[in-house]
Amino acid sequence: MYEEIRENLQDIDGLIVGSPVYYAGPNGSLCAILDRVFYSCSDLLKYKPAASVAVCRRGGASSTFDRYTPVDEQRTNEEHDIIFDESKAFSKQFTPVLNGDISVNYRINKRKLSHEFSLKMLNVGIRTGMHFYQYNEKTNKIKKEEGTGIIPNVSYKLYF
Ligand SMILES: Cc1cc2nc3c(=O)[nH]c(=O)nc-3n(C[C@H](O)[C@H](O)[C@H](O)COP(=O)(O)O)c2cc1C
Repeated sequence: MYEEIRENLQDIDGLIVGSPVYYAGPNGSLCAILDRVFYSCSDLLKYKPAASVAVCRRGGASSTFDRYTPVDEQRTNEEHDIIFDESKAFSKQFTPVLNGDISVNYRINKRKLSHEFSLKMLNVGIRTGMHFYQYNEKTNKIKKEEGTGIIPNVSYKLYF
């Protein structure tokens, strides 16, 4: 299967990866083949757009995406730039955090048409559990930044 994927990667413009959700994570066989492909075909994937799709029955879809590749600290320190350890691609899971959304809706019901105004504040727990890395050239250290931020979402819906 690896040889076949490698062959097909030669002519692709982009990549879409899909997986069923198995115990709040992607399918294990898919992770195994992706590890193998990322390890040795990164030249064929570089700068190409990619998207991923997860299908679940009940829950665990977002944690399926909440995976990251660890930093290769030795190479990062040698090259003074963040280098990921692609031999362990997506092997780590972000820390689960308690988070929530607040939503205020105002709906005007009419016989034929209803209007709904809504203000949502997503991510009110502020911490997302996600993080990213930056290389600080002045201190020559890897800096881990926590992902934060409340996301406001304003919408207007029409119901016929
Ligand atoms: C081993 C296993 C674990 C699963 N875990 C989850 C889960 O954590 N959450 C969920 O919503 N669905 C779960 N499902 C349901 C799958 O997501 C669902 O079957 C899948 O999206 C459809 O793909 P399939 O045709 O390969 O089963 C699980 C299914 C299997 C077989």
